[in-house]
Amino acid sequence: TPKEHFASRVLAWFDQHGRKHLPWQQNKTPYRVWISEIMLQQTQVMTVIPYYERFMARFPDVFALADAPQDDVLAHWSGLGYYARARNMHKAAQVLVNDWNGEFPASQEGVCELPGIGRSTAAAILSISRGEPLAILDGNVKRVLGRFHAVPTWPGERKTEAAMWQLAESYTPTDRAGDYTQAMMDLGATLCTRSKPSCERCPVQDDCDALASGAPTDFPKSKPK
Ligand code: ADE
Repeated sequence: TPKEHFASRVLAWFDQHGRKHLPWQQNKTPYRVWISEIMLQQTQVMTVIPYYERFMARFPDVFALADAPQDDVLAHWSGLGYYARARNMHKAAQVLVNDWNGEFPASQEGVCELPGIGRSTAAAILSISRGEPLAILDGNVKRVLGRFHAVPTWPGERKTEAAMWQLAESYTPTDRAGDYTQAMMDLGATLCTRSKPSCERCPVQDDCDALASGAPTDFPKSKPK
């Protein structure tokens, strides 16, 4: 089926070219994946690595994080910026300890209720750590899917975003969902980049509507003026 075809090509590319030895890719517990996802939201992989290592050494589990003074958490964040991320993370750790016995909720809805965790981040955590077949839709994935389907409208529009969630769900495989999540993020970050995409190295170039149009960077469409 077309769906399996897309996912299997993306996964084969990941097996050959994806990064599989980053610190947060070892011992993929929900806690470790969560911290990595929040750090990676506005910060490059290479910058995150030493912060992640120091953070995990000081706060090895959700109980250590919940118990820590806020100053200590912020000190370990110092240099990453967007400090609301660290404050929300600290609050979420306390909710996890107080309301969930220190365990991540089983459902995406439960995870979404934690401060600082939206639908896509919840899906990333649960797919990567537990193999749950949940779709992600961050900026990178919006770009990949917006190009693959030459989506003609701006993803900031509610209807367009809803349509993109449907596309994202339709391609998410039940097998290897965590690797697929990571592969889509890597594809968007390394090949299907905003200004100079490397379409000649893309595993789905044969069926990409934006590439076929001759102007892949015309997608995703920007905000209408
Ligand atoms: N950005 C957000 N999550 C990421 C991840 N898991 N890998 C690379 N970049 C990311």
